[in-house]
Amino acid sequence: MGKIIKIQKGCKDILPENVTTWQFIEEKARETFSKAGFKEIRTPIFEATELFQRGVGDTTDIVNKEMYTFEKSERSITLRPENTAGVRAYIENGMHKLPTPVKLYYMGPMFRYERPQAGRQRQFSQVGVEMFGIETPIADAEIIALAVDYLKSVGLNDLDVEINSIGCPKCRDEYKNKIKEVLKDELPNLCEDCQVRYHKNPLRLLDCKVESCKKIFEKPEIQKVIQSDYICEECSQHFEELKLYLEKLNINYKINKLLVRGLDYYNRTVFEIKSNNLGTQNAVCGGGRYDTLVGNLSGQPTPAIGFAMGMERLISLIPQIENPKLDVFVVSDNISNALYCAQKIREMGFSAEFDLNNRKFSKQLEKASKTAKFAVFYCENEVQKNVVNIKNLSLSTQKEVSFEELGSILHNER
Ligand code: HAM
Repeated sequence: MGKIIKIQKGCKDILPENVTTWQFIEEKARETFSKAGFKEIRTPIFEATELFQRGVGDTTDIVNKEMYTFEKSERSITLRPENTAGVRAYIENGMHKLPTPVKLYYMGPMFRYERPQAGRQRQFSQVGVEMFGIETPIADAEIIALAVDYLKSVGLNDLDVEINSIGCPKCRDEYKNKIKEVLKDELPNLCEDCQVRYHKNPLRLLDCKVESCKKIFEKPEIQKVIQSDYICEECSQHFEELKLYLEKLNINYKINKLLVRGLDYYNRTVFEIKSNNLGTQNAVCGGGRYDTLVGNLSGQPTPAIGFAMGMERLISLIPQIENPKLDVFVVSDNISNALYCAQKIREMGFSAEFDLNNRKFSKQLEKASKTAKFAVFYCENEVQKNVVNIKNLSLSTQKEVSFEELGSILHNER
């Protein structure tokens, strides 16, 4: 016999005892997002590699280091590292012809070849929304409010909402030059990644988590540039309006000038929602506006904004929900009658099991009290009379009833 085959690094099995919590956050997502008029979209888990190169951007860690890419029939294919590039489906299916805004949500697995640690996996799940067609900051406010609503719906009320505006390509270019200028002499002291970022995308320097880099960025002359209001008049007005809307909705936010996000498609509003209880990987939610992505992927230029949340991180923040008890465990002296009775109860719309191991009566009863709300006895004398005996296992009450009555009792007492 060979060795036991183990799960891949950075992946996790979600076992039956944890799945109820997952189903809960999935249900809440469907409920909250459809209340705001969002419709679910399901796109493939693998796409052309080029989609992410052009979409997420070739200066990002995701594209440079973290993609699961393979060749099949001379095509380069990548397991999706995120789903905003899934905008492909919006373009390909002609959704720009629909009345605006087009509001979509999705959930499912994503893949990034990262160094696994608490809150960071190689296969993880995201739930996210994308809204197309609205350029004004009211869309940004609605999207942030929706993220907050969803987090509240799963019981998370006191998380930090951080926002920033990274401007438009025009004002951002000037800012990038200023950052390069002020950091010119520090270049040899920056970490290896930052040395590359300095040339490829200096904005991303601000996002560096390496302590020695962070120290450098704290220097007053560098802080002065980072904290400066560099964005242009239009971008600034967009951001001011967003803040007013958030204030009207009583959404507490913090402005974080270091928040630049690790994906290339953003402009203007970017935001993250963080929890102090998550350690270093503290972002539950990340999102922002991406007005040029649809056009860059050869669609009709369409402004858009969205967010995605890490479902494993969400799960780690909420108490685990116990699996619900079975409605009925059928107890019988005849396994074929037990199967018949369980089937009838399932047809009535309740959950039911019986003892497939055909163990003795006392064992069946023991199993019933452990797993079910009711024991339903269906033994030879009940079969003869075409009745059942139903025992409420928490109240210890028992009565003989017809199959017809059984349904209403289960319905009322469950
Ligand atoms: P992101 O910030 O890369 O953004 O990911 C969003 C969230 O996914 C993170 O805040 C985190 O909770 C979770 N996440 C990311 N990587 C991992 C990982 N390796 N393990 C566990 N959780 C992880 C995006 O993906 C954008 N597509 C969001 C977006 C949608 N922007 C606009 N629309």
